[in-house]
Amino acid sequence: MLKNTSRVQPDSARMHLAQRRRFGGAALAAAFSLFALSIAWHESHGPDAVSSDEMPITQARADDAAQASDGGPATRDGSAANGELVKRGQYLTRAADCAACHTADKSRPFAGGLPIGTPFGTIVTPNITPDPDTGIGRWSDADFMRAMHEGIGKGGERLYPAFPYTAYTRVTNEDVLAIRAYLKTLTPIHYTPPANSLKFPFNQRWLMVFWNMFNFTEGRFVPDPKQSAEWNRGAYLVEGLAHCEECHTPRNFMQGLQSSARFSGAVQAGWHAFNITPDKLSGVGTWRDDELTSYLSTGAAPGRANAAGPMGEVVANSTQYLTPVDLRSIVAFLRSVPAVSGGDARPRHQWGNPANDVAALRGTAITGVNGAQLFVANCATCHNWTGQGVGASAPGAYPSLIHNSTVGANDANNLALVILHGVNRTTTHADVLMPGFGGHLDDEQIAAITNYVTKQFGNPQATITTDQVAKLRTLQ
Ligand code: HEC
Ligand code: HEC
Ligand code: HEC
Repeated sequence: MLKNTSRVQPDSARMHLAQRRRFGGAALAAAFSLFALSIAWHESHGPDAVSSDEMPITQARADDAAQASDGGPATRDGSAANGELVKRGQYLTRAADCAACHTADKSRPFAGGLPIGTPFGTIVTPNITPDPDTGIGRWSDADFMRAMHEGIGKGGERLYPAFPYTAYTRVTNEDVLAIRAYLKTLTPIHYTPPANSLKFPFNQRWLMVFWNMFNFTEGRFVPDPKQSAEWNRGAYLVEGLAHCEECHTPRNFMQGLQSSARFSGAVQAGWHAFNITPDKLSGVGTWRDDELTSYLSTGAAPGRANAAGPMGEVVANSTQYLTPVDLRSIVAFLRSVPAVSGGDARPRHQWGNPANDVAALRGTAITGVNGAQLFVANCATCHNWTGQGVGASAPGAYPSLIHNSTVGANDANNLALVILHGVNRTTTHADVLMPGFGGHLDDEQIAAITNYVTKQFGNPQATITTDQVAKLRTLQ
């Protein structure tokens, strides 16, 4: 499908006119980018790089050619076959969590408008409902396929990798067309999201050509015949549709995925998406398979972790809908990725002791901001003053803060964010709600509770300052 990139592209022609005026600046920027990119290339193609370059792409292309067609089964509306296709498309759309970015407002499903902060400025998600004027109603199936597989928009313009086409390129033509068939059944919503605000030169979409050279390998998933069907299904989901690496793999300075440290954890908008490699101390190597599948399907694995923030949304929008077979496949694949140590002394979920100081707190005069007292006043009704929770292992219970990965992590970011924003996760399993305290506790009080909780129930080395809480508060 790479051949498409050479076709005449009206939008980029328009862009080139505008570019000529700024040619001097753009040429400088491009030269600089090339220099920076060449450094990054050496970095990302070092001896340990786990790259997917060896994939027999030619074979994948041959499959494409055989399958690709404009208006295949997806357009045979009304037939029973189409009903099945749409149902499969909905399942895949959930697995790919398109809603996470394209549904900014629940009353406007898939109409976009979510601002995504990047180091280069803000990118706003477009409307992907079938509205002909503001959505993708006029797109052909081939246009849609090209966007998903190559990151190229309808007018030939380069899309920014905030849209995870780097992962969706792995998805088969058949599955892309099923997603397309489902999206066509959505209510068209007439809504134009606000424009991007990217600084020059990042507002030059053509520069993505260089970014792609270093950070993007176009091509469908190719099963590894040496691995089981379960492993291959897991790899297909994790690397493609479910795009777990978009959050769990650290990035290089160009915001490309660092292929030498896959799944070893990364921070985005303040949230630490933890190391999920099989490392026994820094990763999830000591979790049982059923604990991992329970976490993905319900958001809770008692004694290990609960899913809050972006991961709570992944569970609520996406992984709770996956079949048990698909969940087990994801786990089978995750078990096989190289373990990456983060230098931790013990697993996140193995910290903490129940508190025994409540007697000492009673009757003491309150002098200044005291984390223990704030904890008893704000948290103990649900988590108990001992920190052991209430009904701790029942579904939808108030969990124990002892043996909880967010409290035992080696940084206190997620804990402070949970206190600021609470937990709100709706699944078919339970409606989970912890109120946010950002509205009535100030930064100093939140820092004090956070530091008390990590010291008493978690990893005492994880501390946070008032200034750091203030910074986390400003992140979306
Ligand atoms: C992590 C966030 C994210 C997810 C998940 C995501 N998208 Fe997007 N998508 C974006 C952003 C951001 C853009 C705009 C990129 C740009 O402006 O270059 C975009 C652009 C698009 C476009 C191009 C639309 C246009 O008008 O140019 C299509 C089509 C699209 N996405 C479809 C999907 C589908 C289908 C899924 C699920 C399979 C999906 N996206 C999942 C963030 C996301
Ligand atoms: C949008 C970002 C995002 C995506 C996509 C994402 N995760 Fe996460 N994940 C996180 C964050 C953030 C946490 C920490 C949550 C917390 O502290 O409550 C997390 C936590 C986890 C944990 C618990 C680790 C621990 O020690 O507590 C597992 C397991 C996990 N994710 C697996 C996955 C898998 C598998 C996928 C793909 C299907 C995935 N994640 C996709 C952001 C993400
Ligand atoms: C009204 C009850 C309630 C109160 C009050 C409450 N919590 Fe929670 N807390 C919950 C529930 C419910 C969950 C989510 C359980 C789940 O994910 O299944 C939770 C989860 C947590 C988690 C785990 C988050 C994760 O990502 O693993 C932490 C840490 C936590 N609470 C700390 C606190 C602290 C500190 C306070 C006081 C500032 C507090 N809670 C107040 C009910 C409460």
